[in-house]
Amino acid sequence: MSAASARAGGEGKRDLVSIEDLSTEEILELFHHADQFRDNLHAWSDLCRGSIMATLFFEPSTRTRLSFESAMLRLGGGVITAADEKSTSRSKGESLADTVRVVGGSYADILVVRHPEDGAARVAARYARVPVINGGDGSHEHPTQTLCDLYTLYKEKGRLDGLEVVLCGDLRYSRTIHSFCYALARFRANIVTMPYPGFELPDYVLRRLRRDFGVKTAVASVADLPGLAGSSNAAAYLTASEPHQLSLFTQLTPVEVNRIDAIYMTRAQRERHSGEETKNYPRLSTKTLRAAAAKDARIMHPLPRVDEIDYDVDDDPRSVYFRQAELGVPIRMALMAYLLGRIELRSTPRAERATTPGIDARSLLRCRNERCITNGEGVRYLERDFRVRQAIGEPPSLECAYCERELVVRYLGHAQERWCVPVTVEVLRGMDPDQRVWLESEEQARAAGFQIRGGTD
Ligand code: CP
Repeated sequence: MSAASARAGGEGKRDLVSIEDLSTEEILELFHHADQFRDNLHAWSDLCRGSIMATLFFEPSTRTRLSFESAMLRLGGGVITAADEKSTSRSKGESLADTVRVVGGSYADILVVRHPEDGAARVAARYARVPVINGGDGSHEHPTQTLCDLYTLYKEKGRLDGLEVVLCGDLRYSRTIHSFCYALARFRANIVTMPYPGFELPDYVLRRLRRDFGVKTAVASVADLPGLAGSSNAAAYLTASEPHQLSLFTQLTPVEVNRIDAIYMTRAQRERHSGEETKNYPRLSTKTLRAAAAKDARIMHPLPRVDEIDYDVDDDPRSVYFRQAELGVPIRMALMAYLLGRIELRSTPRAERATTPGIDARSLLRCRNERCITNGEGVRYLERDFRVRQAIGEPPSLECAYCERELVVRYLGHAQERWCVPVTVEVLRGMDPDQRVWLESEEQARAAGFQIRGGTD
């Protein structure tokens, strides 16, 4: 099987669940193809002739669904869509797994899926025979929005390396922010977070930035940005740049941010809030743009906008949020043509992230993210699945294979001999994988009949 046909479906198919599924080189090459598509959007109607894309959108969307559909039509392929959950058999109780098995059977050659639960895209990718693209799963990730964002920044600034990017608003529930952070860290951009209080970047995202990209964190002192700066007293500076002078900064001498390349604004993701207050949410206005630090900044937003960017900012040449949406078509054309094997890239795909799959079936574990699909519709049919993650200098930890949230485990038990010890790299290495039982607490260990040796909870 050629690399191209392997990509198109079945064994070895490529999915895009996380932005981490694409290598840096692949992303840059996709930009190149997107440039070609964009030069003449009407010149590619033979490239995907005969292919059908299905959009399965179980949450509202304007840009993602319609730009994917436009992209496939411009490539000469066909489109089938389920844009309203109520009009599909999901309303009768059909699972996502069954839906994608059917639609990804003989109905379509590639699926784009949006779903309200974290980890849903991984479920779709596991069950579908054809490539699956994550169109947004809960507050987990939205990788193709990140492709639009990176592509826009790249065209505006001519580079991605070492940019200073301010992220503002609801950083907790915004899936576009989470994917964007991982990508920015990969390109060694510096991230300044200015969350609406209570909506900070989640710990699991920060931990992943630290573990996978060596990102370090300091307090940031952001030059006055009217409408934004006052919204948050918790600006942080995240950088993977080396060598960096972060060690010189302390709480008393924060990193001063006087030059900003982009301000990325997000709306309050109210559909994922549980009654949280968002009074005095930040609002970017023409006044914000008068700040010296914002002189060369690009104003970005994944859209839809609610009230967080004034409409008169639209006329400022630094505002690029409609460009982000526009570039969604050529970059999604490039992505689909690639995943369907209709264009070849020179670069090698990203290696599988270093994890140890397959935590044994005796596991007592449950993902603690209540919004994870394993605690939602997947309760009916998904086997819990955790991967072991190891960071230098830290004890091994587990991560849900679906929503990628970390699960804190304290003990590793021996299944046959019924003892357990605090988990360390050495204990993990020394225990037969078939005998490992992961335990979250002393209480759980005792309840399961394990004798605890060494350490306390
Ligand atoms: N940016 C984005 O995902 O927009 P839609 O929700 O309209 O698809």
